[in-house]
Amino acid sequence: MQFVEANGARIPAVGLGTMTLKDALCVDVVATALKVGYRHLDTAERYGNEAEVGQGLAASGVKREDVFVTTKVYWDRLAPGDFERSLDESLKKLKLSNLDLLLIHWPSPKVPLKDSIGALCKAKRAGLTKHIGVANFTVPMIGEAVQLASEPLVTNQIEVHPYLDQTKVLAACRQHGLSVTAYCPLARGKVPADAALIRIGKAHGKTASQVVLRFLVQQGLIVIPRTSNRDRLAENLAIFDFKLTDAEMAEIAALKRPDGRVVNPPHAPKWDE
Ligand SMILES: NC(=O)c1ccc[n+]([C@@H]2O[C@H](COP(=O)([O-])OP(=O)(O)OC[C@H]3O[C@@H](n4cnc5c(N)ncnc54)[C@H](OP(=O)(O)O)[C@@H]3O)[C@@H](O)[C@H]2O)c1
Repeated sequence: MQFVEANGARIPAVGLGTMTLKDALCVDVVATALKVGYRHLDTAERYGNEAEVGQGLAASGVKREDVFVTTKVYWDRLAPGDFERSLDESLKKLKLSNLDLLLIHWPSPKVPLKDSIGALCKAKRAGLTKHIGVANFTVPMIGEAVQLASEPLVTNQIEVHPYLDQTKVLAACRQHGLSVTAYCPLARGKVPADAALIRIGKAHGKTASQVVLRFLVQQGLIVIPRTSNRDRLAENLAIFDFKLTDAEMAEIAALKRPDGRVVNPPHAPKWDE
């Protein structure tokens, strides 16, 4: 496993996305992922599966301190008081005394950043999380959040895959020392079927999914692909034994297109600011 270092955090470059994983399947996938070598789990209060993620972690036999656990506070729970309740519930469901990373899941159109970033920093100072960060933050929001934060922000978790141009946000994160965690790295299943990516993969004895995860990690990003399939768990981790050429990196980057985004935001952020 490779790690990405950012503002004091050391984050495993591949994590397991858990959105939509529920009940016994979620427990089983999380436990299996840890058994096959994952050391990073991504959940959220909004996913409604923190209890199952915690059960999977406990059942895996892997030590708690060896796993990097992230959860998030959703945009409708960022107001003073709500934030603290959301975090408290998350820790109870996960059966953990602290997190490795706590994120603001989406910026709120109503709660000022001063309040939500303040609550995030307070949670870190209270020892409830080792690190803090944000998700779905635009370029101006990143600048504002960094100004307001009394504790370092270590990541911005955003949609990144070959079909979406995130150059400006990536540059802003780099400028402030934040890592970027790429969500929907497989564009929710579009990547595995892409003919150009399959062709590039064949040259390396790899699948299209492995090519894209490698493409992202090779740029210094963290990836959190989700799968409910045992074989694919191992497949998505086996990306550290090959390297893409500069020409292949350029060809994959050229797949970006204006309608490439796969996630519908819960409200309307101005992505292009
Ligand atoms: N911060 C945010 O706002 C935000 C938003 C969205 C997502 N996320 C996080 O990012 C994670 C990943 O995003 P995502 O789950 O939306 O999408 P994703 O990881 O891009 O794609 C998941 C889909 O790809 C399939 N898949 C996975 N590995 C595969 C492989 N090797 N070959 C073929 N198909 C494969 C899975 O199907 P099978 O299960 O059948 O393998 C699933 O349908 C989420 O689970 C969540 O933790 C965060």
